[in-house]
Amino acid sequence: MKQTVLVTGASSGIGYETCLLLLKAGHNVVGLSRSINSTHELNSYANFTAWSCDLSKIDEVADLLLSIQASVGEINALVYAAGVCHHEQFGSTKLSSVIEQINVNLISAFILCEQAIMHMPKESSILLLSSTLAEKPISTSAIYSASKAGLEQITKASALAGAEKKIRVNAVSLGCVNTSMLVKPRADDLDKKHRLEQLEQIHPFGLGQANEVASVLINLLNQPWTTGSVIKIDGGLTLN
Ligand SMILES: NC(=O)c1ccc[n+]([C@@H]2O[C@H](COP(=O)([O-])OP(=O)(O)OC[C@H]3O[C@@H](n4cnc5c(N)ncnc54)[C@H](OP(=O)(O)O)[C@@H]3O)[C@@H](O)[C@H]2O)c1
Repeated sequence: MKQTVLVTGASSGIGYETCLLLLKAGHNVVGLSRSINSTHELNSYANFTAWSCDLSKIDEVADLLLSIQASVGEINALVYAAGVCHHEQFGSTKLSSVIEQINVNLISAFILCEQAIMHMPKESSILLLSSTLAEKPISTSAIYSASKAGLEQITKASALAGAEKKIRVNAVSLGCVNTSMLVKPRADDLDKKHRLEQLEQIHPFGLGQANEVASVLINLLNQPWTTGSVIKIDGGLTLN
């Protein structure tokens, strides 16, 4: 059945690949991020709508879903792929990066989940992107890990809240996926090539690819008896 799916984090990485697969399958997609606009390449699909919004600004999220629905009609599924990750040396964490990660990864995700459960139709589906760092932090990931651990609890609470309308709410806990997020400068000062090599080595199946993850996400969106689950997709990372 044709759906209208809101994908946050649509401009790049996993969110972008998720939009592409949904668009190619004929679904309507609203792709949200800060930078996305009518010049983004996803606009080459007639069934794509770009929606610019800064999820670090909580004010911009109030009534977001209602505004989108007023413009494009009913939304049947939400993929929350927007995320920020700042690895900082313990003791040198900037307050601005704490606030940005908590706002984007946790608070805006929660606000959008609440709106989705209130305003999406029965039997809709929500998928949130978490990280293995929620379960197994490293010394530079305290706030990112905390935001994703919180997101996993939001997943479970939202699944309970959505049960009456049979709205499914799930999260995926991802290992390292080869996107721009992995090669942002970090406290370790490694260059892009060495960072990727180092991360590849700790995954028994190597790094994940965004398009492969996207196809799993789309599958999960349509599982009728799965809710409140945090599903690991990590190339074996957490086996070690
Ligand atoms: N890549 C990995 O190894 C990995 C591992 C575990 C979990 N994850 C999670 O997977 C999700 C997707 O990550 P990715 O790897 O695809 O990263 P990415 O390529 O860096 O994409 C992040 C997306 O989030 C959007 N975004 C960031 N800040 C935003 C803001 N303030 N408001 C609105 N949108 C914002 C970005 O768009 P704009 O810049 O245009 O706003 C972009 O579309 C994230 O939640 C991430 O935490 C990734």
